[in-house]
Formats: sequence, structure tokens, C-alpha cells
Amino acid sequence: MYLVVQGQLDMEGALTARDRVGIQDFVLLDETTETAFLSNLKKRFSEDLIYTYIGTLLVSVNPYKELDIYNKKQMDLYMGVNFFELPPHIYALADNAYHTMLTEFNNHFILISGESGAGKTEASKKILQYYAVSCPSTTLLDTVRDKMLMSNPVLEAFGNAKTLKNDNSSRFGKYMDIQFDSQGDAVGGHILNYLLEKSRVVHQNHGERNFHIFYQLVQGGEEDLLHQLGLERDCQHYNYLTQGECAIVSSINDKNDWKTVKNALNVINIDETDINHLFEIIASVLHLGNFHFESNSKGQAILNSNADLNYFSPQLLGVNAETLRKGLTFRWIEVKKDEVLSPFTTDHAIYARDALAKAVYGRTFTWLVNKINESMENTVSGRLKTVIGLLDIYGFEVFNLNSFEQFCINYCNEKLQQLFIQLTLKSEQEEYEAENIEWEPVQFFNNKIICDLVEERHRGIISILDEECLRPGDATDLTFLERLEEKMGSHPHFVTHRLADKMTRKTLERGDFRLLHYAGEVTYCVVGFLDKNNDLLYRNIKDVSLHVATQFKSSLLKLTEILMAKEAWYVRCLKSNESKQPGKFDEALIRHQVKYLGLMEHLRVRRAGFAYRRRYDVFLQRYKPLCPATWPHWRGEPADGVEVLVQHLGYLPHEYKMGRTKIFIRHARTLFATEDAFERCKHELATRLQAKYKGYKAKGEFKKQKEAATKIETCWRGVQARKEREKRAWAVKVIKKFIKGYMTRGEAKSTDNSEYLAFVRQSYLNRLKDKLPKTVLDKTTWLTPPAVMTETSELLRKIHSRLLVRRYVRGITPQKKAQLQLKVITSNIFKGKKDSYPQSIAQPFEKTRISGYIYINVKVLQMIRNEQIKYSVPVIKYDRNGFKPRPRQLILTQTAAYVVEEAKIKQRVLYTSLKGQGKTMTKQFPFFLFYFALLLFQGDLVMQCDHLFEFLTKLICNQGIEIQAGKESAVDFTTGQEPMVYKGKNGHLMVVSGPVMMIILRSLM
Ligand SMILES: Nc1ncnc2c1ncn2[C@@H]1O[C@H](COP(=O)(O)OP(=O)(O)OP(=O)(O)O)[C@@H](O)[C@H]1O
Ligand SMILES: [Mg+2]
Repeated sequence: MYLVVQGQLDMEGALTARDRVGIQDFVLLDETTETAFLSNLKKRFSEDLIYTYIGTLLVSVNPYKELDIYNKKQMDLYMGVNFFELPPHIYALADNAYHTMLTEFNNHFILISGESGAGKTEASKKILQYYAVSCPSTTLLDTVRDKMLMSNPVLEAFGNAKTLKNDNSSRFGKYMDIQFDSQGDAVGGHILNYLLEKSRVVHQNHGERNFHIFYQLVQGGEEDLLHQLGLERDCQHYNYLTQGECAIVSSINDKNDWKTVKNALNVINIDETDINHLFEIIASVLHLGNFHFESNSKGQAILNSNADLNYFSPQLLGVNAETLRKGLTFRWIEVKKDEVLSPFTTDHAIYARDALAKAVYGRTFTWLVNKINESMENTVSGRLKTVIGLLDIYGFEVFNLNSFEQFCINYCNEKLQQLFIQLTLKSEQEEYEAENIEWEPVQFFNNKIICDLVEERHRGIISILDEECLRPGDATDLTFLERLEEKMGSHPHFVTHRLADKMTRKTLERGDFRLLHYAGEVTYCVVGFLDKNNDLLYRNIKDVSLHVATQFKSSLLKLTEILMAKEAWYVRCLKSNESKQPGKFDEALIRHQVKYLGLMEHLRVRRAGFAYRRRYDVFLQRYKPLCPATWPHWRGEPADGVEVLVQHLGYLPHEYKMGRTKIFIRHARTLFATEDAFERCKHELATRLQAKYKGYKAKGEFKKQKEAATKIETCWRGVQARKEREKRAWAVKVIKKFIKGYMTRGEAKSTDNSEYLAFVRQSYLNRLKDKLPKTVLDKTTWLTPPAVMTETSELLRKIHSRLLVRRYVRGITPQKKAQLQLKVITSNIFKGKKDSYPQSIAQPFEKTRISGYIYINVKVLQMIRNEQIKYSVPVIKYDRNGFKPRPRQLILTQTAAYVVEEAKIKQRVLYTSLKGQGKTMTKQFPFFLFYFALLLFQGDLVMQCDHLFEFLTKLICNQGIEIQAGKESAVDFTTGQEPMVYKGKNGHLMVVSGPVMMIILRSLM
């Protein structure tokens, strides 16, 4: 919707700019002079703006060139848009008629008038196309539309011809009803045709042609078809096509038109057989035209055209050639119930031939219209329908030689002008009355006087013509003229050679009469009037049936009745120049048309009293942005809103009148100023509207998104909640099972606890895996097992410790092994017996402790050279006296232990001596160390050795000294005057020392 509105604004903007040329509605002209009128028309025409309004009447000037204003885009633009909102266009008129019909549910007609070549047929086609494209549609209705559209090329082929005025001049009148249902769908159509100019079949003036279809068939017909019809592809061959000497016209493409017509005949559902018959008839007319007659010696006519006669075997006209020949050369007279053949003169024969050709063609045309009507007939019954009628009739025409046909055509135009005058004046007057507005009459030329001159009963030209046709005796065209002169003698719009003054007489032949039509003077030649009015196949027969002119008169009367019952819309077509040149504005010609079409009077009538009027609601709707009180909405009555609005705009009291439903604005400039103000305000308004609309759209979008988000959120939350619920239900089940499992964990394995136990097992094993003891010695870190795993845990523990042992053992070197063996010995001796033992375990034993930068004096080595040194260690000896520490070296050989002070061996103790005493002493001094120390070094009470366990182990290993665990004993340390060591009465070893010594002893222990 937005785009459409936007598009329209854009287009309107562009068009408005263009539209600044002149004024698009004559009503808004300040001056109502012919000059101002023409100047505006010319200004616009020079910019290819061919349409201008006079109120709702559309003035169209034939541009004689294709304008790019009839495309789909333009149609879309005008669809449903208020009449005055866009520049004038035939589509605007068509659209307004259509929408008024739909809203008011009444019938309408569009009267298209103008002289020959002014563009009536083109206008009617544009309107039809507009309805075909822009009305709503269904597939069913599409075919109806196609048929309506396609009826045009067919009827134009058979009913239009090139004349001096127009290369595609309508030679018949056409009134087409387009039927719409209440939804506005075009559901059917119906055509009424009026008086075809049949004389053209047999005769054409110079520079004119016969009906298009003949040339189309000859030029475009397929070889087979021509052969079958006995035709040659050469127009020059046919008498009926050559009289005007312009069979080929550059503006007409007969070959292409032939294809269009053929296709159109198919679309309107005329079956193959009928199409064949149709062309057989057309061909037969051409053949008929080539019939020649010669006189025999008695002056009787003889048909001299066997070649063409041959084609009148039953396949063409369906008549026997001989019958035809007789028919054309003899008259059949009934004498006392016998039929007698009376021969024709050649003139009679030619007359009969032409009369036959005209009759055949005329009836064929009627048949065709009936066929089209059948095919367009509305088949959807039951629905209420309204119609829009399109009237496109041959335009007013004046040739050098004007005959009965021009008389009928111009009479018809006279009647339509009368209708126009009646309707416009009537509706105008009615409107003022209905609105309680005072009506000021406007002078205008009423052509009723001419209509009466032609059609009045007993006194009119047509009545006199009929009388003359029926009069016994030798009535001729000239006697008809005389009768006219008698009866019309003094009529101001009638003149003949005899009746005219001197000056006029010069311009009139004796056989002429002149009518002063509303559109100008036309001189008619009476020759042929009687014949043509009789329209008989045979001369001299006085037929009492209605004559042509009278028939035509009554059909026009009927048409008037049809039209009077409908709402009228007018398109007034103006011919821009006589030479059909694009862009040429022949001012004199146009001025003349403006005059006779009564456009100035129409304009004055529209402006009489009040130049402009609008329904209150429409006026308010358009101009409400100009007043803050009415913008954007006026809540009260539209009339009150308009009053407020015009007050705000400063309208003076005499400038406007408030009717019952409309506001009437006296001067165009008042509305013009309002329109200008509106134009200025529109841009600002557009911006405001745009901003509002954008805001509104964005808000809508936001709301939509928010709603969507909420919806998604809700859904998602639902999903989450359902998931959560499932999870919880599952969790409850699992927990319940867990608890049950826990409660029954002590029982035999059952369904209740099996999972729990498995879990316990698994979790214990998992934990255990991470917390396994890392070393062989680590006996404390084994994870406490749950009840079910006690047994397994114990097994695992054993396996694991075995594994550690194994790994440890495997990784052990022979040296290390020897060391460990020593450590085992140490362990056997000291484990659990000495407090400092556990700390010593981790310290590895050395082979010897004196090596490297501390060494055994060479002299000492010299002294004990016969013995192998097994172990040496630095020790500190504490003197008995004063406990002075003295560094010593203790050396073990295989036989003895030495206490060495630098180069001196201080003591030598043989192992052998140790052994014997050792055993006995063990019992006495379970605490072997002291035993050893005391006994080993006799007088030296204490020695400090950093590697006590190592040293003792080496000593024992070396000497195989057996050390047994003695009785649990204790050492009592006391201080006293005299340091001493002795066995106390309590069985403890008593060590008495000065304060310093005690400390040393402690460290030793
Ligand atoms: N709106 C138009 N745009 C372009 N050319 C046009 C337009 N109207 C008319 N013409 C040109 O003028 C020619 C005559 O127009 P048209 O046949 O409609 O006249 P008419 O009023 O029907 O005349 P007649 O009374 O002879 O039938 C067309 O063939 C076409 O070339
Ligand atoms: Mg026409």
C-alpha cells in the first residue's frame, strides 16, 4: 500500500510539473473568451497535453501521433483516483464513470463526439482497454473481455473505410453497452449498430476506399483461400475497389490487419464454416462488381462476365449462376398469377447489381454484429448488473459532394448535440435547484431548430422525403427538392439555389440544398436521395415499409431514450488539422470546432454563478490540511468543517455559497489560490505523513517482533520446563533408588541394591586408583574400603604392595642390593630398639667414610699395611677429663679396629678380644652400644660418630659379632661432680657427667 501511495505521489509530482503548462480545467480560466480558451488549448497541445477538462467534460485534441500515455503504468496511476487529483486523461474519465457506477449503482454512458477524424473511435478503444485491464477479473470473464476488445478490429474491418477526412473513418454508428456486475467485473457486452454507409460498397469518391475488409482479403488472404474464392491478389482487378483510385494507402497495412481480423474472428467464437461463408460473401461482392452488361439491339441488358459469374456456383453465394444472371437482367412481373420476365436496360441491370451487392454486404454486417453480440452475451445470470455505454458514431462530415449518407450522418450528430445541450443544461439547472442556489441562465445556441427542420413530423425533411418516395406519379430527386423549397422556404437554416440571395446562389447548384448545421453549412446534392431512402433492390417498386431515413430517425430516437436514462459523461474530440499532421495546431479549424461544439457555452454554464462546486466531504477531504481545526480529522458534519475551513482560508461571503450538499465557489481564482496553498502544503504534508507512516510502520514492526519474541520465549520456556521436569523426575527416581540401595546395602544383592553396590564399588575403585600408595614403604595411605569391598580391598592392597615390591626389586642394582643386605642386618639389630633408627634408614651406607680430601695418614697406612682396611670413619672422641672433643679416625680392618689420631695409632682393638667378652657382656649390658664403647675403648668413655648404624653394621658384618637383643633397659643421665658410667641399682645404666657432657651423650643416643 505504501509503495503504491509513494508511487502515486512521485508520478503525481512529475505530472504536476508537466501539468503547469496552461490550465488543466477550463473552468479555472480567469477569462472565458474564445481566445483565452484556444491559447490554453494550444499551450497544452504543444506539450503533448491533449486532454483538458471543462469540469467533468473532457476535451481531447487529436495529436496524430502515438503518445506514451496509454500504458499499464498510466492505467494503474488513474485507477481509483479522484478526478481532479491527476492531470486530465481519458482514463480519469473512464475510471470516474466506473467508480460512480459502482458506488451509486446506476447506469452511465460516455458520449464521444467530434467531427470525422477527431479521434472518437480511438477514444472509445482507449476506454474499453482501460476497463479490460483495470477491472477485477476471473478466468471466465477474461474471455468476455477478450471478445469485447476483439469486436473492435472486426467491426472496423467491415464498417470502417478510408475517407478524405480520416483513413479509418467509421461508416456506421456504434453504441456498445459494457455490463458490470455488482463487484465491478465486466460480465458481458452488447452492440447496437446504426445505419451502415452501404453505398460505399459500390461507389467511392476519389481518394476514398471501400470498406477495409475487401483490401485485407485481397492483400492478406492466403493463396489457398484466394484460389478457392476465385480472387486475384490485385485490387486493381476489382471495379468496386478502384473507383477512389487509392487502393493502397501508406498509413494502412492491410496484410497485418488481415491477420488481426482473422484472429479476432476466432476469439469471438465464429466457427470455421461461418468464417468461410463470410469470406465467400465478401468475394462474391467483388465478383458482382465485375459484372458487365451490354445492350443488345433492342436495348436489353446482357450479362457479359462469364468468368466472374462462374464463381456464383453454389459454393459462393449459394445461388445458381443462371438464376443470378436472370435476376440481374430481368424483372419478374406477376401478371394474373403468371410470372413474366421483363428485360432490363443496362442501367437497370447495373442498378440491380449494385443494389444486390449493397444488400448482401449490409445484411452480412448485421449478421456479424449479431454474432458478436451472441458471443459477448452475459452468461452469468442472477446478478444485478449496471452498464456503461460507449457511443462512437460517425462524426460530422462535409465533403465537396455530400449526399444522403452525409445527410443522415450529420443529422445524427445534430441529434447528439441536442442531447448534449439538453443534458448539460438540465443537469446544471437541476443541480442549482436541488442545492437551493439561484440559477443564472446562460445564452447558448440551441440546435433544436435544425433537428426539427430535419425530423419534424409532416414538416421535416425526412417526412417530405418519405412522402416523395411514396407519392404516385413521377417523383424524382428534383421534385423532392421542389417540395422542400415549398415547405421550408423561409427556414433560417435551409437554403437552395432558388431561395438564396445573389451571393449565396453562386455557391449552390440547382440540384443542391444547404443546411446550416450547428457545426457549419453543408450543401447536399439531392441526386440519389429517393433511391437511397427507398433502399430497394428494384426500382419503381413503391414499398410501403419504413424508409431508410425514417428508420434511422426512429433508431436515433430510441438511442436518445437509452441515453437519457443514464448518467452522461462527455468526451469532446477536436481535430487538430485537416492534413493529419502530428503536432499541427490549426487555430482556425479548432476555433470553429470549439464554437460549434458549444464548448464556450458549456464553460459559461459551468461557471454561471459559480465556477466550481464540490461535495462538502470531498472538498473537506482535499483541503483539510490547510486548517488546523480540520486537520487531520474533522469530527462533525462535513458542511460545518467546510465552513470552518473557508473561514480560516479567508473566503469572502460573496465568493462562495453553501448549498445543501456542496460548496459553490464563485470565482475560479478563489479555488485556484486554495489549490496553490494546498500544493505548497502537500510537500510538507507528505513529509509529515511519511514520518508518521514510518513511525507507525516501525511501531507495528516492533510490536510484531516483540510478540514473536514473546511467543518464542514462551515456547522455549515450555520446552525448558518440560525438560527440567523430566530431569527432575529422573533425578527423583535415581535418588530414590540410591537411597533404597543405601538402605539395603548390607543385604544380599537384590534389584534394590545391585546398582547402588555397583556404584559404591566403582566409586571406591575410582578413588582408590588415584590414591594408591606410591612407595613400598608407605603403609598408611590405603583407602578405607566400604563394607562390600573389604575383601577385595585387602586383596588389592596385597597385590599392589607386591607390585611395588616387585617393581622396587627389579629396579635395584647389585651395589644397592649389597647395601640393602647391610640395611637388613642393621634392621635386624636395631629396629624397634633405638629411637633414632628409623631416621637412619633412608641414609645409604657408604663403603668408607674417609676418602677424598680427608684421608688416612700415610704413616698409619704404613703401620697397618698388612691388614686390609674394610671401613674407616671420622669420629670425635671426648676426653674423660673435661670432655674435650678430639677428632679421631676409626679404622676397621679384617682383624682389628684402630683409633687413629693423625699419624698415630692411639688404640688397636682386636676383634678376637671383643668376641669373647661380647657375649657375656651382652647379658650384662643389654644396651650394646655402651657396652661396645666402654669395652672397645676402655678408658675412653664417649665417642661421637655421625654414622653410628653404618659403623656398627660394618663392624658386625666384618667380625661376625652377634648382637642379640638384650633385656629392655634404660640409661639414666644425671649430672654430678664426677662424670662416671655405672650400672645403677635399678639395673639402668647410669651416666653421670658435667653439664656439657650430658648434651654430647644425648646427641650420641
Ligand atoms: N489519442 C490519439 N492518439 C494518437 N492518434 C490519434 C488519437 N486519436 C486519434 N488519432 C489519430 O486520428 C485518426 C482518426 O481517429 P478516429 O478514427 O478515432 O476518428 P473518428 O473521430 O472516429 O472519425 P470518424 O468519425 O471518421 O470515425 C486515428 O486513426 C489516429 O491516427
Ligand atoms: Mg470513428
